[in-house]
Amino acid sequence: MFEDTKIEEIIKSMTMEEKINFVVGVGATWIEGNPKPKVKGAAGDTFEIPRLGIPRTVLADGPAGLRIDPERENDENKYHATAFPVETMLASTWNREVLKKVGEAMGEEVREYGVDILLAPAINIHRNPLGGRNFEYYSEDPLLTGEMAASFVEGVQSQGVGACIKHFVANEQETNRMTIDTIVSERTLREIYLKPFEIAIKKAKPWTVMSSYNKLNGYYTSQNKWLLMKVLRDEWQFDGFVMTDWFAGDSAAKQLMAGNDLIMPGKSFQIVPHLRPKDERDDIKEALEKGELTEEIIDERIRNILRILFKTPAFKGYKYSNKPNLEKHAKISYEAGCEGVVLLKNDDVLPISKDTKFALFGTGQIETIRGGTGSGETHPMYTVNFLDGVLERGLSVDQELAKLYREKIEEFRSGDYKVTRGSWGEEIKPKLPENFIQESQLEEIAKRNEVAVVIITRISGEGYDRKAEKGDYYLSDDEFELLKSVSEIFRKHNKKVIVVLNIGSPIEVESWKNLCDGILLVWQPGQEAGRILADVLTGDVNPSGKLPTTFPKDYNDVPSRSFPGEPRDNPTVIVYDEGIYVGYRYYDTFRVEPSYEFGFGLSYTTFEYSNLSIKRVGSKFVVEFDIKNTGNRSGKEVAQLYVRAPIVKIDKPYQELKAFEKTKLLEPGEVQHIIIELFASDLASFDGNSWIVEEGEYEFRIGASSRDIRLIGKIKI
Ligand code: BGC
Repeated sequence: MFEDTKIEEIIKSMTMEEKINFVVGVGATWIEGNPKPKVKGAAGDTFEIPRLGIPRTVLADGPAGLRIDPERENDENKYHATAFPVETMLASTWNREVLKKVGEAMGEEVREYGVDILLAPAINIHRNPLGGRNFEYYSEDPLLTGEMAASFVEGVQSQGVGACIKHFVANEQETNRMTIDTIVSERTLREIYLKPFEIAIKKAKPWTVMSSYNKLNGYYTSQNKWLLMKVLRDEWQFDGFVMTDWFAGDSAAKQLMAGNDLIMPGKSFQIVPHLRPKDERDDIKEALEKGELTEEIIDERIRNILRILFKTPAFKGYKYSNKPNLEKHAKISYEAGCEGVVLLKNDDVLPISKDTKFALFGTGQIETIRGGTGSGETHPMYTVNFLDGVLERGLSVDQELAKLYREKIEEFRSGDYKVTRGSWGEEIKPKLPENFIQESQLEEIAKRNEVAVVIITRISGEGYDRKAEKGDYYLSDDEFELLKSVSEIFRKHNKKVIVVLNIGSPIEVESWKNLCDGILLVWQPGQEAGRILADVLTGDVNPSGKLPTTFPKDYNDVPSRSFPGEPRDNPTVIVYDEGIYVGYRYYDTFRVEPSYEFGFGLSYTTFEYSNLSIKRVGSKFVVEFDIKNTGNRSGKEVAQLYVRAPIVKIDKPYQELKAFEKTKLLEPGEVQHIIIELFASDLASFDGNSWIVEEGEYEFRIGASSRDIRLIGKIKI
């Protein structure tokens, strides 16, 4: 091919110095003295060699939207990017089309702002609800994760820019993430943690993969040849390039030898001298001199990188506009958010009508959380908070109470709860008190309103895991007191209470869910938050999200008890000793009842499943059934196919998700015929050496959730 010849010519023309420079990024562009960034706020730039026609290319985060600085010095223009719902919420849509559309929109912003590769999606697994970056990941299930990722990658790359699936692999916690050694069996790795990467790579061919910070069974993933060469390249035929996570690992030479093509962002010694005292370039030179590393290996890395970079807008000399279609993307963000809302509880309270008088409680009505912190954060033009959203939609929210919240928040933030900046320039926002309304005031509020809506918020982000403590996994005392007094007083007046969860990852709900009549999980929904909430409250939008992750009754119920590793006070090792029993695989097999199970989500209408047929066509199973909207509102349903294996030699979970399909918007009475195709190989387990499907009778279970199975069929293998 013409390109291959060209690449070989370039490699031949490169000096050794240029070769070494090219496999390392230019250094953190936000540090004085390093090359200035091509796009301000992007995460990293690759090395340019103008004499060989190699331009600088730009890599930028992240999973909820393009993360670049909205402002530049001496420039009045703004460079805002759309804030989409966080990944966990996108996965709650179970809608491949939505993921594709969001990917297309982000891809357009990437291209039009002069960026070449988007550092997303992140596809680690929700192993433990306290994972600090869970909001940036899709699900506890590898199939749902892989499918969502594949559609998102397709969307991004349809815009002529690259996606990057990260963090490869077994990076399910933030505690000591740069050095922790994750110990995990090959079966667990292949069935749970590698699986989403395998699915996304085979289906969508992402341009790049980012290796993770952690070690995997003793070796940094970026220095792990088995992972990067055998699994990724030989078995899966990945033909893009692999980059390190930022400042990851401890030897550039070992990274190159293991199959990690690009080392990012370069000059790690400037940031993590205790882990990487040397400039990567010197490390590489020394290894070359000692004969540990060869020029051929470096050439191969360059080949992998160039093959991809040739496709980038930078290489093609694309003239970007700095004017992506933000208006159109706001709509896509709104629609994605609407489909990701999960209705967890509804005792005859939702939807409310437009003129139902309601009182909005909780500081989150103003300080709404659109997304998490760290590299997954976003800088949109605006965020419509919950209060403004319901006002904009003309709902009958209690204005006097809203005024009280505005005043109180201002008072708190200018007093004891000032917002400060951390060492990385990030905002540090002390959590506000929630229980400041007097009982007498509450009585009055309850008299003049029909419904109370109480907002609970949580935020987390890169660098820290969450805590199994009050104020984080559990409600804080003042949140609980607020909810309890609102509940008592409203119910005394025969009024109802709705809780809105504006969170990125599960919290404990079991101890308080009886205090309310409805629970809406709106996750961290991006910039359109308030509009989404308003439209779901009134039923303009019928919720159709389903949980991509279990809400356990209590933290003590979670299977990953080893989290975040040993020794407890400063872990160096984390053993994934629950094996494949992650999420519902554990709760179902060991009969631990959760508050809300995987796949769960209510609707304002009802659906009926019928007419199941399973046919075997060659190596394929064709599963067909009907879904009918039996209620009186239009709505969408997510049908989930779980497979239960017979008792075989290898231990199997009670059931596993093997396929899913979301219906279109079904009108009352409307029926949709669903056809799902499955291969026998989809039922395989990894027995330590290879994938095997054992003989016996397999149960195909079709449900509205993992515990609400509506149809069962059996198949002999
Ligand atoms: C994160 C990555 C991110 C990179 C660049 C790292 O700290 O782990 O997810 O893409 O920074 O910002």
